[in-house]
Amino acid sequence: MNIGFFDSGIGGLSVLKEALKLMPNENYIYYGDTDNAPYGIKTKEEVRDLTFSAVEFLVRHDIKALVIACNTATSAAVRELRQKYDFPVIGMEPAIKPAVEKNNGAHKRVLTLATPLTLKEEKFQSLVSRFDTEHIVDMLPAPKLVEFAENFMFDNPVVEAYLRDILPKDIDKYGTLVLGCTHFPLFRNVLARIVPGIDIIDGNEGTVRHLHEVLKAANKLETSKEKGRIIFYRSGTLVEDPAMLEKYYRILA
Ligand code: DGL
Repeated sequence: MNIGFFDSGIGGLSVLKEALKLMPNENYIYYGDTDNAPYGIKTKEEVRDLTFSAVEFLVRHDIKALVIACNTATSAAVRELRQKYDFPVIGMEPAIKPAVEKNNGAHKRVLTLATPLTLKEEKFQSLVSRFDTEHIVDMLPAPKLVEFAENFMFDNPVVEAYLRDILPKDIDKYGTLVLGCTHFPLFRNVLARIVPGIDIIDGNEGTVRHLHEVLKAANKLETSKEKGRIIFYRSGTLVEDPAMLEKYYRILA
C-alpha cells in the first residue's frame, strides 16, 4: 500500500524528502494540485473543497496513510478529513513551540513566514496563543514565494529582491525564522544568505517522525527491505515527462 502525500503544488516535496530519509522502503504517491496553486490566497472554503477532491483521488490509489504536506490545506481541512476517513491523516503545524522555547528569555523574537490563509486561520492563531506566552512571535505572509517555487525559481535575483523587500529591516531582533509553508524550505539557501545567523526551522522532520510513529503503532510500516517507488501526479495527471521528473528528483535529492 502507498503513503499518500498531498500539497497545493511542489511544496510537499520538501516533506517527502524527509520521509524518504526515514522510510526509504515505503511506496509513495504524491499529488500536487498544480492547476489550482496557490492555495494560500484562496478562501478557506475553496481550499477545503480542493483538498477534499484531491484526497478522493488519492483514496482511489490504495493509501494506508495520508500526509497533508501543506500548512494551508491542513488548517482548512484536516479536522474534517479525520472525521471522514479511517486511515491516519497527518497534518502540518508551524514549528512555533520549539521556536518560542528557544527564544523566550533570550531577548530575541520569532518571525513566522506562511501563506495569508494559514496566518489568519484559527488553527494557527490558537497555536500561537497556546505557546507564545511572552508575545515574541511575529507573522509575515509571503505568498509570492509559492508562485516562484511553482515556476522552479528558487535562488535567483528576483526571489532575493522580493525577500529583501518583505523581510523586516530590523531583522536582527529575530533569533528564529519559522517556515510555516512547505514551499518555503525550498528557499532555505537564499534565506540563509539574506539572514545569516538566524535559525531557520520548519516542521517537516517532526511531521515525518510522527508519521513513522503512527504507522509503527498501527503495524503498517513497509516490511520489504527494497527501496520503494514514488508516483507523482500534477492535479490528476501522472508526471511522466523526464524533464519534469528530473526537477522533482532534484528537490528530493
Ligand atoms: N505549501 C502550502 C503550505 O504549506 C501551500 C502554499 C500555497 O499553495 O499557497 O501552506
